[in-house]
Amino acid sequence: MKKVHVSSILLSVILTLWGCNMQAQTLSETVGQHFRIGCAVNNTIVQNPQSAAHKHVCNQFNSVVAENCMKAQFLSPAEGVWNWSEADAFVAFGERNGMQVIGHCLIWHSQTADWMFVDQDGKEVSREILIQRMHWYIRTVVGRYKGRIAGWDVCNECFEDDGTRRQSPWQRIIGDDYIELAFRFAHEADPDAELYYNDYSMSVPAKYEAVCRMVSDLKKKGLRIDAVGMQSHNGLTWPKLSNYDRAIDAIAATGVKVIISELDLNVLPNPDTFSGAEVTQFYEYTPELDPYAKGMDRTTEDLIGERWQAFFLLYRQHAEQIARVTFWAAGDADSWLNDWPIPGRHAYATLFDRDYNPKSVVKEIIKMYEGQMYRYRYVRRTKDK
Ligand code: XIL
Repeated sequence: MKKVHVSSILLSVILTLWGCNMQAQTLSETVGQHFRIGCAVNNTIVQNPQSAAHKHVCNQFNSVVAENCMKAQFLSPAEGVWNWSEADAFVAFGERNGMQVIGHCLIWHSQTADWMFVDQDGKEVSREILIQRMHWYIRTVVGRYKGRIAGWDVCNECFEDDGTRRQSPWQRIIGDDYIELAFRFAHEADPDAELYYNDYSMSVPAKYEAVCRMVSDLKKKGLRIDAVGMQSHNGLTWPKLSNYDRAIDAIAATGVKVIISELDLNVLPNPDTFSGAEVTQFYEYTPELDPYAKGMDRTTEDLIGERWQAFFLLYRQHAEQIARVTFWAAGDADSWLNDWPIPGRHAYATLFDRDYNPKSVVKEIIKMYEGQMYRYRYVRRTKDK
């Protein structure tokens, strides 16, 4: 029999245990100690408790938001028609698994059925009627889940990138005060729920400055607003980390928390005129715009891994200002980026592959969140890609 040195056995036992320990660690156990860590879920995930996706969400995250089923288009597709079953199931799913449950979203220019803005003859309703409908809509939805939703995205995407107000039907018909009315009505319906403003391209200075002015204005009027959601549909070259960094500081300086509310990474080529996250924008599929349909080479994967690390380092540095980081999909298979802005592509948008296995960068992120911050402090603002 071969002689095996005791110390080498001991070493391999230690390495194995250490390896198991690393493997068992989840985002919720590590990153989740610094701020909430969540993901958006679709109805299929909620309704299939035996699925890998369902188990993965319960395992990795401590916060959930509904990707679609709480939007006005689904809750109230026609006047007087309510469709609660999917939203009810989503809230029960979050509660059953001890997760923070987030409501998305009350007032938005998109995914709201047309009936909200028109009368029986198809003509736009008056300011008074739309305020009444908004009040009644918010009271009904927020009231139904009173005490069960930790926080609501009250208003979504109300500003253009140049800082002007988006000319949505809410803005055109009601006027500038529709945002404060929405926050007032939401607070009335559930005084304990946190209330958020949410938007994309939030590292564009003109945009976040306008949002910050709006937040300060709401606060001056004594209205409740707890956080601003930076959607963070990020890419490999945008946003610039220095702008993103400053945006977080600027939002926090208004006295609210920052939420990274819809995080994903679009690594696919862009059609030339594309930017932002306007959900109605679409382009035609071509194979050149879908380069990873059959898999991805190691160099590209590493490049993407570096970008993820840069974001998570920034979040770690801003941990005191950040209340939550939420991915906009449970894994790559679920990402809306498979079908937006070009249908039928193969997105690599999250930290988990199509079978919900963590990508290799997850280990690095976990290490970063367990390590002492002094190791990383010089990286701030220097890695600006
Ligand atoms: C997206 C969903 O992921 C898609 O399934 C749906 O078809 C369109 O909306 N900003 C938001 C989210 O606030 O609600 C959007 O979600 C993505 C952009």
